[in-house]
Amino acid sequence: MNNIRTIDNLPSPKGKPIVGHLPKFNAINKHQVLEEWVKEVGDVFRISLMGKKFIVSANPDINHEILKSRPGQFRRFHKIDEIMSEMGIIGLFNAEGEQWKLHRKLTSEALNLKNVQGFFPTLQRVTERLYQRWNDFASKEAVFDIQKEMVRYTVDITTDIAFGYDINTLQKEKDIIQDQMEKVFPMINERITAPIPLWRYFKTKKDKDFDEAMAAIKLLVHQFIADAKLRLKDNPELQENPTNFLEALLVEQTKSGSLTDKEIFGNVFTILLAGEDTTSNSISWTLYYLAQHPEVVEKVKAEARQVYADANCPSSNEALLSLKYTEAVAMEAMRIKPVTPNLYMQALEDVAIQDLEIKKGMTVMMQNKVAQTDAAHFTNPDAFIPERWIPKACPMHDKHSPQIIRTFGAGSRFCPGRNLAIHEMKMAISMICKNFEISLAVNPEEVKESFAFTMFPENLKVKIKPV
Ligand code: HEM
Repeated sequence: MNNIRTIDNLPSPKGKPIVGHLPKFNAINKHQVLEEWVKEVGDVFRISLMGKKFIVSANPDINHEILKSRPGQFRRFHKIDEIMSEMGIIGLFNAEGEQWKLHRKLTSEALNLKNVQGFFPTLQRVTERLYQRWNDFASKEAVFDIQKEMVRYTVDITTDIAFGYDINTLQKEKDIIQDQMEKVFPMINERITAPIPLWRYFKTKKDKDFDEAMAAIKLLVHQFIADAKLRLKDNPELQENPTNFLEALLVEQTKSGSLTDKEIFGNVFTILLAGEDTTSNSISWTLYYLAQHPEVVEKVKAEARQVYADANCPSSNEALLSLKYTEAVAMEAMRIKPVTPNLYMQALEDVAIQDLEIKKGMTVMMQNKVAQTDAAHFTNPDAFIPERWIPKACPMHDKHSPQIIRTFGAGSRFCPGRNLAIHEMKMAISMICKNFEISLAVNPEEVKESFAFTMFPENLKVKIKPV
């Protein structure tokens, strides 16, 4: 009995009276603050934000149990839904209960491996455009920010898949919807951890800008919904074979009547939100390592030449699937730099996991990055070694625990976009290594981890040359 750990007998990093750990935690790079505290007090501890207590866990077994205990015993931290619903976003990421089950079924189907393979023409077209654009950069010896480039890449793919709209930010100046979308994640991030919801009483200029951005996005997406409804009416054959996610949701709405227009908006918007920054940041981090590891680039290039010879990028799904070394490169970057290092889960009932007691209503902040870069789970954990993902290719890496990786979460709410994300990553990485030599235009230590709901590389400036 004495060995039971409760929130009150957990260790805690040094805090301040009343505000507790808030001043430090409120920093832009919350995930690094949590990491520092893990080093200071161990992998399970308590923090207090203005008197409200939270458990923090960097323990991979506990975190796995929590993720697997959904939807019955845990849900996402209620504030995520509160903030997103208030913004008018009612979709899969923040839904719970029966509503979540329906949304999950529709989204998982839309993003299953078979459908993702059907997206190949979109991936190929957008990757070719990225090639053209970078060719131009290479000829001008331009220095540019990779992260911003990769956002264009994933926006173009995701918008096409979500509602069949070729936004083409790679060849045009950015579209209005993209400018507005960029404001959403940082605001969700800010409001979820705000101790007092000041914006409900007094709107700053930033809040007003945000409201305007959301209104513009809603207007545009509702226009897409109206257009798609007309298309389905005029072309009844689309009922059987919808050509994008929005059409598939509208078909379901007609069939079962179970989805409102608000939910259709929420789910299309969720795909845009969940699918863009996560994937673009993951590609950016991969390129951060590749720019420092020419020997890895050589291997990606050799694989590309062997698989699709003279083309600029993979020319078929089969070609893409066979890029095993490139996939290992992506997996390794996502191990060291998971773009969603923190997940917040709230207990729906009293739960005991191992010796840890978690009371109903309590929220656990999971820090998943620490374990992914811990010598207990991976040999030479901070080194970028894609070979560790290739069975038998790296015998000196005896410690290899892929089962503790939480980059895409776990359990019934595991990321439904994983297949699509890995396809996009492989497509971009392979094309870039085959055609360009990439080098950092800043020192590696000048590239900082920044967190705004997802973790991205700030100041990742590079130069490229044609191969
Ligand atoms: C490298 C890219 C990506 C990463 C690292 C990532 C990571 C994650 C993580 C950690 C979660 C939470 C999982 C959990 O609670 O167990 C999640 C959920 C989700 N992701 Fe992704 N994701 C990526 C790409 C995508 C893409 C491309 C899409 C769609 C186009 C997508 C759609 C979603 C949705 C809809 C959810 C909510 C699922 C639910 O609550 O049932 N993600 N993702």
